[in-house]
Amino acid sequence: MTLSRPWPLAPVLAHRCGGLLAPENTLAGFAAAAKVGCGGVEFDVMLSGSGSPVLIHDETLERTTNGHGRVAGTRDEDLRALDAGRWFDACFAGERVPTLEEAAVRCISLGLSVNLEIKPSTGQDEETARVVARRAGELWAGAAVPPLLSSFSESALEVAAELAAHLPRGLLVERVPPDWLQRCRRVGAAALHAHARYLDRATVIEARGAGLWVATYTVNDPGHAQTLFDWGVDCIITDRPDAVRAFLPQHSA
Ligand code: G3P
Ligand code: MG
Repeated sequence: MTLSRPWPLAPVLAHRCGGLLAPENTLAGFAAAAKVGCGGVEFDVMLSGSGSPVLIHDETLERTTNGHGRVAGTRDEDLRALDAGRWFDACFAGERVPTLEEAAVRCISLGLSVNLEIKPSTGQDEETARVVARRAGELWAGAAVPPLLSSFSESALEVAAELAAHLPRGLLVERVPPDWLQRCRRVGAAALHAHARYLDRATVIEARGAGLWVATYTVNDPGHAQTLFDWGVDCIITDRPDAVRAFLPQHSA
């Protein structure tokens, strides 16, 4: 089987909204990615204690906000009061933990294609996928490029397949497991997203031969990105969208 469709997102995606150019998973990250000419972003979505989808990576608030405790134990009104930018740099003070709706509106207006990572907190895989898949389908309805939903959670991807079958899915792995193709097939994944450290050329070729797209993370060195593209990788997720794009003029994002 050969790939019948081109990779739908930009070939270079800024990791956690803007990579290292802005505090992760904030609206400022989208602006930073767009400013350097990056055409797409990856971000993480988890449920708040009120059950709302919000952009954040960790299950706890301490590392990236001035709050304390679990995201899943924090109500929306309390999340909204937190500062998600000052930890990164004082000039980003006032950045908030964005809602999925805010992210969608901003990405669509900036023309950024989206890899939305479903990032359930412990024990919330299916509920997170239910909320995120439904809401993403609504928010990007009619958009030129729908988001690609990825997750390390296979049960989350199965739920997403049921509720938003039209949104493509990517199976996220760190090391590529021996049965990666069966796993991708089981969750109906269109893409394999693997850590660059554990991805080899043979797997890229085999995946693409099986009709899957291949994305890899987190690649910050332009030379490494070029090698991966030469292997046939469809997408690089990077903390340095500025550097990676600048050195890859043939892969316009
Ligand atoms: O989607 C690629 C990457 O974001 C997965 O790792 O921990 O940064 O969400 P993490
Ligand atoms: Mg992520």
